[in-house]
Amino acid sequence: MMQEFNYIEKIEGKLSLPGDKSVSHRAVMFASLAKGKSVIDNCLNADDVNSTISCFRELGCRIERKGDIVIVEGSGFKGLKKPQKDLYAGNSGTTARLISGILCAQNFESVITGDESLSRRPMKRVIGPLSLMGADINSADGGALPVTIKPSKLLHPVSYEMEVASAQVKSALLLAGLHLEGITRITEPEKTRNHTENLLNLLVEEIEGKNVISVSKENYPLNFEMTVPSDISSAAFFIVFALLSNSSELVIENVLLNETRTGILEILKRMGGNIAITDEKINNGEKSGTLIVKNSKLRNCSIEKELVPNIIDEIPILSIAGLFAEGKFEIRNAKELRFKESDRIKALCENYKYMGLEVEEFEDGFSIQGEINGRNLVFESFLDHRIAMSFAVLSMLRKNGGKVNNFECVEISNPEFLNQIKSIV
Ligand code: S3P
Repeated sequence: MMQEFNYIEKIEGKLSLPGDKSVSHRAVMFASLAKGKSVIDNCLNADDVNSTISCFRELGCRIERKGDIVIVEGSGFKGLKKPQKDLYAGNSGTTARLISGILCAQNFESVITGDESLSRRPMKRVIGPLSLMGADINSADGGALPVTIKPSKLLHPVSYEMEVASAQVKSALLLAGLHLEGITRITEPEKTRNHTENLLNLLVEEIEGKNVISVSKENYPLNFEMTVPSDISSAAFFIVFALLSNSSELVIENVLLNETRTGILEILKRMGGNIAITDEKINNGEKSGTLIVKNSKLRNCSIEKELVPNIIDEIPILSIAGLFAEGKFEIRNAKELRFKESDRIKALCENYKYMGLEVEEFEDGFSIQGEINGRNLVFESFLDHRIAMSFAVLSMLRKNGGKVNNFECVEISNPEFLNQIKSIV
């Protein structure tokens, strides 16, 4: 479906956005592992999290969704059942990677599959270290899905230093370690999102500037009730839209403010963005608060390497902010963008070149500057939800508007995007 967007001059009002995607995935997974009933409120109702739900239903858990509330009857330690068919992770890297860690510790065989995009994304990064732990995990196709996991009597705790800064890889290893008697210790090269650690209450120590996370059977989750804070990655599109529009005052309630995710706020503030935070609170180890965003004049700034994992999902929309800001936008040290729902460096550069900008593409990033040319612009989403929403925002900031191809891919993380826009214009 091609979606048209018209110029919007002024935005105001209040938004309540759906639950954070990373936290919702983990809440469903940990509730499925825990014995008994758990209740998850504001659990993101979008394709990715629903893929996690359908995998755990296939593994024998009773999971009921009533809108944003998800009620899970969990399995208890090693209580998952052998699935009757392949576990389909859809478009979701978080589902495929994290569930691999859990399945390595079960006493039945399982196969994980995914859609075309997910089947192109690297699984070697979890297969390698899980094999070192003694898991029987293999991929037929050069390190991509489908992945087959068989029971292994050799699974054992390890101390492992990760090669890539990836919360999905880290979590997969921690979830395998969660089923073992002894302590598994994982060291990450740079800090990545820590929701697995928070929700499972894991010990995190800083040793020589790096995080070392410990896990064992002792950390196995008990059933719980929680409300998932709103997704800061979804909020980022509205924050940038409000900052760049001519006149705006936008309130976004109860947004996740976990410090491994707030890099986007830090950078936008550094660029001159007027973003205030009120009503901060902490629930189930996760911080949240209300954001008040007003239109601002932005100027580009440098983005340090250590912050890149923290903003990895927000780089597409951050580059839109950079395009409208004074000076040149440049991001480096972000090769991981090439392994997301699309090759995001390529996707962004292609759309920016199409608009007539001066674009420089690097293996690990890109830079853009110049004036936008063209009247009836039709952007490609590359079937990637974050690319689609970024160019929707860009279109609404242009007097000539714009169109985005295959816009339905926003179902992956925020099916209500268009209604949310309607409510603030
Ligand atoms: C996620 C981790 C990140 C992020 C993804 C969600 C998670 O991926 O890009 O959208 O929930 O753990 P990587 O672990 O590959 O960096």
